[in-house]
Amino acid sequence: MTTIESVLNETRVFQPSSDFSQRANIPDIKTYQVLCKEAEQDYLGFWAKQARNHIIWHQPFTSILDNHEPPFYKWFSDGVLNVSYNCLDRHLSTQADKVAIIFESDSGEVTKTTYEELHRQVCQFANALKNQNITKGDRVIIYMPMRTEAVVAMQACARIGAIHSVVFGGFSAKSLHERIVDAGAVAIITADEQVRGSKHNPLKDTVDQALNMGDTDSVKHVIVYRRTGAAVSFNSDRDVWWHEIVQQQSVDCEPEWVSSEHPLFTLYTSGSTGKPKGVQHSSGGYLLGAKLSMQWIFDYHSSDIFWCTADVGWITGHSYVAYGPLAMGATQVIFEGIPTYPTPGRFWEIIQKHRVTTFYTAPTAIRSLIKLGADLPARYDLSSLRLLGSVGEPINPEAWMWFYEKVGQSRCPIVDTWWQTETGSHMIAPIPGAFPLKPGSCTMPLPGIVAAIVDEAGHDVEQGKGGFLVIKKPFPSQLRTLWGDPDRFRNTYFPKDIGNGQYYLAGDSAYRDKDGYFWIMGRIDDVLNVSGHRLGTMEIESALVAHPSVAEAAVVGKPHAIKGEAVVAFVVLKGAYPTGDTVTEMINLLRDWVAKEIGPIAKPEEIRFGENLPKTRSGKIMRRLLRTLARGEEITQDISTLENPAVLEQLKKNAG
Ligand code: PRX
Repeated sequence: MTTIESVLNETRVFQPSSDFSQRANIPDIKTYQVLCKEAEQDYLGFWAKQARNHIIWHQPFTSILDNHEPPFYKWFSDGVLNVSYNCLDRHLSTQADKVAIIFESDSGEVTKTTYEELHRQVCQFANALKNQNITKGDRVIIYMPMRTEAVVAMQACARIGAIHSVVFGGFSAKSLHERIVDAGAVAIITADEQVRGSKHNPLKDTVDQALNMGDTDSVKHVIVYRRTGAAVSFNSDRDVWWHEIVQQQSVDCEPEWVSSEHPLFTLYTSGSTGKPKGVQHSSGGYLLGAKLSMQWIFDYHSSDIFWCTADVGWITGHSYVAYGPLAMGATQVIFEGIPTYPTPGRFWEIIQKHRVTTFYTAPTAIRSLIKLGADLPARYDLSSLRLLGSVGEPINPEAWMWFYEKVGQSRCPIVDTWWQTETGSHMIAPIPGAFPLKPGSCTMPLPGIVAAIVDEAGHDVEQGKGGFLVIKKPFPSQLRTLWGDPDRFRNTYFPKDIGNGQYYLAGDSAYRDKDGYFWIMGRIDDVLNVSGHRLGTMEIESALVAHPSVAEAAVVGKPHAIKGEAVVAFVVLKGAYPTGDTVTEMINLLRDWVAKEIGPIAKPEEIRFGENLPKTRSGKIMRRLLRTLARGEEITQDISTLENPAVLEQLKKNAG
């Protein structure tokens, strides 16, 4: 309710400047409406035209959408292409010398890589992969620092038709192991260490641990990039150095031409139940989404210096670092480090130094940047900026205003982009030269995206009413399935009871205002959004229960000033209910345990102990009640069905 209320009170509207609109790819609402109308009148014709205009096809497609087996839709399926060719080779005749990547390391060294050089590096590495017998359809785990080489690894997989699965460098050995096994990976590409904010994270060591956890016989090769030169253990049957295997490799590598539907990658993301889901994306449809949104939402111009701060371990780092900008032929910044090192002005310094025009980041980063120094941006020359972007969670109007005024100097539109790992590219976002902006709203769907808000029966809700956010028609960049689990794919995203299994259910609730603007209210399932990252409550609960001292655990979210949401865990121990010093000891032990099981991002902010958890008589944990407790609010819910009301007192006062 509080979200809806705050949204209703937000009446500020910001128009794009005429300077911005005049040179924008979509300069006004009318042009946007024409595109929408085109899509409405001839949906398939519209998408076919985009796919022909934006992608270089090795063999053109004749089939636009194959919907014989919904929801397993296929787009442009008899078309043949290579994604890496579309990101690199296509630029060689026109802009081989243009810088593709401006890389800045943690300690500040800058390396610039042109399209020609990037092409060479990708080809050499692709040849090296082939030399290790890695071929089309093989799964390759990438567990790398945020560096040019991570992009080279992804592009090289795409070039040979291998399916990459990037695992965020902050995930633990256990999480990495789970993904290796689920993917049946044949190879892992990693580094000796990752360096962020001068801290070293031993990636190779974590890979070794994961490979010692069993069921990993599929892995034949571990390719190690030497980042720091730290000593690492080497298994000569399996491990090779990146720099050694690329030596002697040809700088040409004929791309593997694949069907548009060939999986480009899988990326694991949290769901409300069970293990993480391997979201599987296609080649043609995915690339089209990434490229079109660069053009429409980031209003790409060839003079832009684009900077998306997301790590390649997340979907944002796939679509708007590894693929979209390169498909467009853009120059982009890749930064290895963190915003606070060595000074709190690091981000602003990077924008100033590299003359960044387009800066895309997350609300959690914006809030921590405010905390680091709300007035800091004023000390830097940020005049190169022309467009700002936000992603990952609803941006609160205060953070929006600060971003707009202090960073964009009231000159730069902000594109608040709503999308998901599963949608592959932006779905609802402002067209910056055309849309008046409202702080906190992601505005309206992209042309060709039929987003709507429906009730439990799948009927459109009245304007102003909250409901489930759905996308009514299939679209090219959507996930194709969940790796190895088509039933889970169908049941999660196309449930029978909502719109008869026809609609893509995003898992978010939303509402539309009188102007048709969308406002995202939050998740409808048990998924938390911590610092813009999705964490399933079940995953954290399973991790806690895996500890020998824990009998039962329930996890909920509570609002957090920087992270958006923080993890609060309610725990029942097997032994005695802890008192005195043992409380803090146990809390620290369990927090570290979760960090080890999943990764530091999942560490509970707070742990509270009880002799039991509040349950209904049928034994269901009353999560709503736990949310109230976590927020420190008074309980106003009906607790008459509660089996053990006394436990509430324990869980209330026992804040860790
Ligand atoms: O709840 C929505 C929120 O993030 C979820 C998707 O998370 P993930 O797959 O990790 O992808 C994040 C980066 C695309 C959504 O279901 N979300 C993402 N962007 C926004 C958002 N919520 C509100 N506004 C946004 N702009």
